[in-house]
Amino acid sequence: MKIYISADIEGITGITHWDETEKSKSALKARKLGKQVSSPEGTLTILDCVDLDVRHGESIAIVGASGAGKSTLLGLLAGLDVPSEGEIWLDGVEITSLDEDGRAELRANNVGFVFQSFHLISSLTALENVMLPLELAGADHAADAALQAIRTVGLEPRKGHYPYQLSGGEKQRVAIARAFVVEPTVLFADEPTGNLDKRTGDKVIDLLFRMNGETQTTLILVTHDLELAARCDRVLHMDAGRIEQETTGDNNRRAMADRDAAH
Ligand SMILES: Nc1ncnc2c1ncn2[C@@H]1O[C@H](COP(=O)(O)OP(=O)(O)OP(=O)(O)O)[C@@H](O)[C@H]1O
Ligand SMILES: [Mg+2]
Repeated sequence: MKIYISADIEGITGITHWDETEKSKSALKARKLGKQVSSPEGTLTILDCVDLDVRHGESIAIVGASGAGKSTLLGLLAGLDVPSEGEIWLDGVEITSLDEDGRAELRANNVGFVFQSFHLISSLTALENVMLPLELAGADHAADAALQAIRTVGLEPRKGHYPYQLSGGEKQRVAIARAFVVEPTVLFADEPTGNLDKRTGDKVIDLLFRMNGETQTTLILVTHDLELAARCDRVLHMDAGRIEQETTGDNNRRAMADRDAAH
């Protein structure tokens, strides 16, 4: 099986050749990431030797069958979990050398995460859920910024509702507002449209790509939706804990065609 690893990032021609300057140019960089867990049948490898380079402002889709390791990879890259081996740099900082507090601080300032199952806090309203990361980061004007984010996802009329009073799609939109309200360097989303009807899903996706276009937020999406994956710059195909292939998304293909046409 062919393993295609993106190594043509900003002139880097070999995956082992990077220095401090190149590291800081990347939004995200991973080297030889592995994750093993113990199971009744013995040690299970759920992530195996994953290398990755993501530039600032890129949009990346991670696709693959259920159980391929997509959520595991996303959790490691976002500093939510620690790998069994390998190294990760997020915005130039090696997160694999940080302790739990250091990772929490880096996450608060640089990372937005939309979980597969929302993870809203049930005792907080929609608006308070969106305010929380701003308050944790000590931001000024948390209430104003949170309200603006709630408006952007079209939920102002529901801002005082608790999660149990929201539909699945509304919860998803609160989770997205909460993830982007801190203007993260990298926004990770695990199946952001998995629970939404087509129309709401399209709205959510347009929102994510608008942020990506306007604020250069780097997007890393896990999805089973190949149409959505094709809208990203690059598509990483996972199987059994490995990135087995990388393809170019329509976004990038269009940009390359425009570049060719200009020459
Ligand atoms: N803590 C854990 N202990 C044991 N096995 C785990 C653990 N976490 C994940 N796994 C296993 O690792 C594999 C990868 O899980 P992961 O959640 O990353 O898959 P996925 O690609 O996101 O799948 P899906 O598309 O269903 O969400 C699965 O087989 C899962 O059962
Ligand atoms: Mg998953």
